[in-house]
Amino acid sequence: MYLSPRFRAFAAGAALLAASALAQAQQALPNVVILATGGTIAGAGASAVNSATYAAAKVGVEKLIAGLPELTKIANVKGEQVFQVASESLTDDNLLTLAKRVSALSKQSDVDGIVITHGTDTLEETAYFLTLTVHTAKPIIVVGSMRPGTALSADGALNLYNAVSVAGSKDAMGKGVLVTMNDEIQSGRDVSKSINIKTEAFKSQWGPLGMVVEGRNYWFRAPVKRHTMQSEFDIDAITALPPVEIAMGYEGVSSTAIDALGKSGIKALIHGGTGNGSVANRIVPNLQKVRADGVIVIRSSRVPDGFVLRNAEQPDDKYDWVVAHDLRPQKARILAMVALTKTSDTKELQRIFWEY
Ligand code: DGL
Repeated sequence: MYLSPRFRAFAAGAALLAASALAQAQQALPNVVILATGGTIAGAGASAVNSATYAAAKVGVEKLIAGLPELTKIANVKGEQVFQVASESLTDDNLLTLAKRVSALSKQSDVDGIVITHGTDTLEETAYFLTLTVHTAKPIIVVGSMRPGTALSADGALNLYNAVSVAGSKDAMGKGVLVTMNDEIQSGRDVSKSINIKTEAFKSQWGPLGMVVEGRNYWFRAPVKRHTMQSEFDIDAITALPPVEIAMGYEGVSSTAIDALGKSGIKALIHGGTGNGSVANRIVPNLQKVRADGVIVIRSSRVPDGFVLRNAEQPDDKYDWVVAHDLRPQKARILAMVALTKTSDTKELQRIFWEY
């Protein structure tokens, strides 16, 4: 088809204008990096009705991004596949690798926010570890899903959209590491997976920090515990995490686990006690021996909410034990590992458990 020189010039000019408008629009968008680690948000089931039976960690980060074209309207997104595992299988070394990558990216001037896609089983531990050790005010959002993307009413796409939206938000800066699940914005410190088969799986006894709805954040509270920029711990100065294990309390408990763990070379033992961190009287001597052998003893509780009172159920001052405050055993373990990279003084450790 013949096009006049005048029309061709006009078309070329219009194309140039459109390209520059697009470039300007993209420049205005925040730059968000998605670090993918696996989990259900990257899962796939055999059919759309398999909302709970599926294989986690199957879909790569590029496919996750390509499957959510709406992201291009809210951020310039880049993806990195850090791991491709179900999160129950992540190791402490994986945690160090991920946190160091997050720290490095947060220092880049062309990165405005970071999203970590993650299995929900141990998402809470990763989020807490990052908030304790990554020194940045930039938004870092950890996100997962309870249903694979292949399922009816899958939750991953909106969770990921919300995560990228919050990661690109200036009002999410300086709030510590956040978790966006089920339209809520949770504190990475406070949140735990509390229901293991519903999309409203993540709860904090202190409530969410806010909500994100249609790309807008609605804040209702702010964290009061030390995190990120205010933390005395820095992932860039941590090369290894000391071994810390957990022994649970329950009716009829024996000392088998405590005795074995106490002799296994660990630096601290988290006791997930009953009630307010109670310890069966028959195993108090076993915990005292663990302490006498130089292992730090930290009393947490198997009860999800509330917090352990020092010197209430047990004479912690007398036994030189530490209490985990409101941290569930799995979170107390994260803080104990981080704290032990700096000190094994029990008074200092107790201060740290009050402050973080
Ligand atoms: N295997 C679990 C995990 O990777 C699946 C749960 C999920 O990601 O929602 O944490």
